[in-house]
Amino acid sequence: MVDADPGPGFKILVREDFSDATYSLVIHHPLMAKAARPGQFVIVMSHESGERVPLTIADFDRAKGTVTLVVQAVGKSTKEMQQICQVGTSLYGVVGPMGVPSPLAGKKKVVCVGGGLGVAPIFPQARGFKENGAYVIGILGFRTKNLIFWEDKFRACCDELILCTDDGSAGIKGFVSDGIKLAIEGHSNIDEVVAIGPPIMMKACAETTRPHAIKTIVSLNPIMVDGTGMCGGCRVKIGNEIKFACVDGPDFDGHKVDFNDLIMRLKRYAKEEKAALDRWSENCRMMQRAPTVLKGAEAADSSLPLPDPFEDALGG
Ligand SMILES: Cc1cc2nc3c(=O)[nH]c(=O)nc-3n(C[C@H](O)[C@H](O)[C@H](O)COP(=O)(O)OP(=O)(O)OC[C@H]3O[C@@H](n4cnc5c(N)ncnc54)[C@H](O)[C@@H]3O)c2cc1C
Ligand code: FES
Repeated sequence: MVDADPGPGFKILVREDFSDATYSLVIHHPLMAKAARPGQFVIVMSHESGERVPLTIADFDRAKGTVTLVVQAVGKSTKEMQQICQVGTSLYGVVGPMGVPSPLAGKKKVVCVGGGLGVAPIFPQARGFKENGAYVIGILGFRTKNLIFWEDKFRACCDELILCTDDGSAGIKGFVSDGIKLAIEGHSNIDEVVAIGPPIMMKACAETTRPHAIKTIVSLNPIMVDGTGMCGGCRVKIGNEIKFACVDGPDFDGHKVDFNDLIMRLKRYAKEEKAALDRWSENCRMMQRAPTVLKGAEAADSSLPLPDPFEDALGG
């Protein structure tokens, strides 16, 4: 039997919702699956006029020709994707792989730290280190037990796993930085720590390893626009240098990153982002209300224009 024509774009084969805000999408994209390396990301457009959203390649399967993205619905575009990206639909555009692949070879003992959504992007690195012969200690942090995902995937590729929850409902009670302290107490020969999560978490991880002089790599997520090193939107301060996260990163030496600058730059468009989300949410509400408010002749007039939730997408 031949599959129905999936149409243009990149078909979503599987979707899993980890929580109200976090979901994974398995995308059919054999070329991307072949080219992807741990640490790289793609830029996704969910529809023709959608915003360009950078997302880390959280997993790839070359045999099946799939890549997996894990998305947190934080603003207009990621919330819109949460609504429209269902199994059987397609993403309009997936560009990549972008960024410098993480160097995985030559390490004997590494610690891979993921906090919240950061658990997804650290996975290919943990697996990659293991495939390269390293002893891998995984440290996963979540606010609470119900938010845990991919524990089984990490257990399969880590020699040790330290699970941390803020409220102590699973694993140890504490932050991932407490997990790092435990790992350092238990192992005197850690070559490298790689940490991915919110900027404040990565900063805490870097401060935990600094006194021990353990090399610490973090993955930065500044605002990105073109993803090609042309616009300068993603510039970050690394020591005395200015780097572009899209072409020089996104991985950088955590002991040199100016996290305060990163956090400030991430807030730069907060007003515009809120306005875009409000406009989009209002359009969605009108779409939902429309069928019930139409009466009589209005209801019969199928040409009556309904608000288009994608109308404001450009530049949103
Ligand atoms: C290299 C990289 C990898 C990323 N990987 C993932 C991932 O795997 N999963 C995931 O859920 N998110 C990831 N992000 C963040 C994701 O791109 C943003 O959350 C998303 O663009 C927000 O868009 P929005 O319209 O929903 O929210 P907005 O309302 O536009 O913004 C909400 C928050 O996202 C930040 N943001 C907005 N636009 C961008 C942008 N173009 N680039 C970066 N940050 C932005 C804002 O500063 C703000 O903090 C990654 C970002 C980068 C740079
Ligand atoms: S996103 Fe434009 S330079 Fe990096």
